[in-house]
Amino acid sequence: MSDIQEATDQLLDVNLFENQRFVQVTESGHRSEPEHLQVTIGATVPTGFEQTAADEVREKLGSSCKISKDRGKIYFDISVESLAQVHCLRSVDNLFVVVQELKDYQFKETKEEVLKDFEDLAGKLPWSDPLKVWKINTSFKKKKAKRKKINQNSSKGKINNGRGEKIDERDVKKDFTSDALDPHILDYYENPGIKEEISTLVGDDLASSKEDDTDESSKEETDHRALKFRVTCNRAGEKHCFTSNEAARDFGGAVQDYFKWKADMTNFDVEVLLNIHDNEIVVGIALTEESLHRRNITHFGPTTLRSTLAYGMLRLCAPQPSDIIVDPMCGTGAIPIEGATEWSKCYHIAGDNNPLAVNRAANNISSLLTKNQIQESKPSWGLPIDAVQWDICNLPLRTGSVDIIVTDMPFGKRMGSKKRNWNLYPACLREMSRVCRPGTGRAVLLTQDKKCFTKALSRMGHVWRKVHTVWVNIGGLHAAVYLLKRTSQAFVRSSEQDEEKGTPS
Ligand SMILES: C[S@@+](CC[C@H](N)C(=O)[O-])C[C@H]1O[C@@H](n2cnc3c(N)ncnc32)[C@H](O)[C@@H]1O
Repeated sequence: MSDIQEATDQLLDVNLFENQRFVQVTESGHRSEPEHLQVTIGATVPTGFEQTAADEVREKLGSSCKISKDRGKIYFDISVESLAQVHCLRSVDNLFVVVQELKDYQFKETKEEVLKDFEDLAGKLPWSDPLKVWKINTSFKKKKAKRKKINQNSSKGKINNGRGEKIDERDVKKDFTSDALDPHILDYYENPGIKEEISTLVGDDLASSKEDDTDESSKEETDHRALKFRVTCNRAGEKHCFTSNEAARDFGGAVQDYFKWKADMTNFDVEVLLNIHDNEIVVGIALTEESLHRRNITHFGPTTLRSTLAYGMLRLCAPQPSDIIVDPMCGTGAIPIEGATEWSKCYHIAGDNNPLAVNRAANNISSLLTKNQIQESKPSWGLPIDAVQWDICNLPLRTGSVDIIVTDMPFGKRMGSKKRNWNLYPACLREMSRVCRPGTGRAVLLTQDKKCFTKALSRMGHVWRKVHTVWVNIGGLHAAVYLLKRTSQAFVRSSEQDEEKGTPS
């Protein structure tokens, strides 16, 4: 039985909200047909890569997207049958089902009036279909939690670094560890495009002593007890006379009265999102407990890149079957691992000069293989990827043998130094131009040291042509992703370099 069918049957068989006033699974004696539900899904995506995410949604789900003015968000309509596919998108971080979008919302003059309107809003929203979708979605979340448990057990001891290092250490809010904050909130912090206040309703917090949410019997109990919920308000905009905390508190209080749910900050079943961006309000229900970018990496390094961003970078250079794709400064391997997973008809090489980084990359590849084997319950064919230790300035690769280079260069802050970049960047671009195939080769390079990069590139105009720049925000740092095309000019090495390197040609 498919996931959707199973979830749909559950929905029909269990009158989940018996004690609550609004959700009628059966309406006027008819069974509603949740499989035909059409809903709007909202997704947070790495800022700068909204269009990439929209392209992926169109390609994989056949839906067109609206890219929000609020950077880092996209919206698209789906039939609920596609919910499983939505969870498989590679470019999205968090998902929510839209309850209602209020464009051009007229906020009243005083804070009291605005907050009163938020209270009144709770009872007027069309909650029914989004809550059906939320219920169907719980079957995906449940399975994810179970799998996670198996994976953790299978690689116990190896994931010793996973906890504190889960945060991209470039994140300006680096003092928050994943233990200190709820992962969902953390995701908003990690998504640097969303620079708003975030507050969660803290009502009569009824923290449950039940810890194991994946336990089937406790899930069944969930179906019969009053649901626990929280409201998270994300607010961005200058002209508001209220705080996100006040909005979450008053809107959340009204949601509680309306549904007779119980407020619970940490152990909630339903997370209601109140997103306010200038005079646009979107109310949603979260469909992800943790960001979907947490999928490949178990061994974290000091500057681990999100898999969703890695996907966006790879997509920029349109990999084709049999392409050789190299990340010459791979760190934990986030880019080539995402590449090997999504573009399995290409061959991916991960290299770094730091033996610790190469070890991490190798461990991440190995953990992913184990995870795949457990999920598929059979030996896997492996992944088309290799990890090597090398120096980017002297790669053990034949001239013109690489189709695509995708890498995240040292910014010179946490990794390396700005001073060293003045030598490293020109040497990188030169060696990349040697290994990359003239005429068709391309490179996608991420850096925050734009001045140094631009200077180095200006001297390499004969071999690299800049095609496109995507501006991204990495933990509060304004960074750029450059798409370069290798010109058709053959690489010519100076005799000085020949003597120094003895590189294969
Ligand atoms: C920004 S980090 C890459 C992080 C990586 N994307 C990840 O997700 O973990 C830059 C990497 O470049 C590597 N590096 C610096 N100089 C290098 C060189 N000369 N050759 C190869 N790698 C180098 C560093 O060891 C570091 O792992």
